[in-house]
Amino acid sequence: MTANSEASKRSDSSDPIAPLHVAIIMDGNGRWAQTRGLDVSEGHHAGFENLRRVVADFAKRGVSYLTLYAFSTENWDRPESEVNGILELAIAVIAHEAQQLNENGVRIKHLGRVDRISPELRDELEQAVTITASNTGLTLGIAFDYGGRAEITNAARQMIADGVSANDVDESKVAEYLYTADMPDVDLLIRTGGDFRISNFLLWQTAYSEFYSSEILWPDFFGEHIDKAFESFSERQRRFGKRA
Ligand code: FPP
Repeated sequence: MTANSEASKRSDSSDPIAPLHVAIIMDGNGRWAQTRGLDVSEGHHAGFENLRRVVADFAKRGVSYLTLYAFSTENWDRPESEVNGILELAIAVIAHEAQQLNENGVRIKHLGRVDRISPELRDELEQAVTITASNTGLTLGIAFDYGGRAEITNAARQMIADGVSANDVDESKVAEYLYTADMPDVDLLIRTGGDFRISNFLLWQTAYSEFYSSEILWPDFFGEHIDKAFESFSERQRRFGKRA
């Protein structure tokens, strides 16, 4: 059984359902810093601290896949100092955390372009992906220089480059060419920071996701706030376009 069919089978059961794949739009670091009179870099620092905490929490909750939106294809247009700060923080966090995550059985995947990030970040990401590749615990997708439109465009380009014939292009073929090729669709999409938009995240994989928006800013989103998101998810009636 594929992970997707497992999720939809579980949705037919009357038991409370835990999401198999959770994706998070980690929004609100800047506002978190602003309300404390701090520089935005402090907000991102607190955001990365929370990222560590949340990954450990999700692993304990038995979620199989967690995908985090860390940097979009559009985020390059933020001020240069902010972009550089995020890149440096990301390098430091991956360098620091990869070994521990490996020991905890976490499998790291990078979702996104690799041709525009700095060689240092590319090396850290590649190393983290390589050393954790055979782990069987939580799969942690790190979306960095990721855009949903770019991902689908890239898939189309790759299919053409591979000589896939038009007759062979169906939904499962497209899914094979996405960064998430061996991951199930997203069950629960969480956005922190109070907004209700998808901001070019996992456009294909969220076709039937349940959406949860939290007012809480990303650095403060842990513990009871994750509980609330899960409670909300367990009350949803998922129909996948069928009759209830
Ligand atoms: C989408 O909102 C949110 C993201 C792509 C996450 C952005 C977070 C960072 C850049 C900070 C790095 C992450 C951590 C945890 C330190 P958006 O602001 O890109 O899009 P919008 O303009 O539609 O709100």
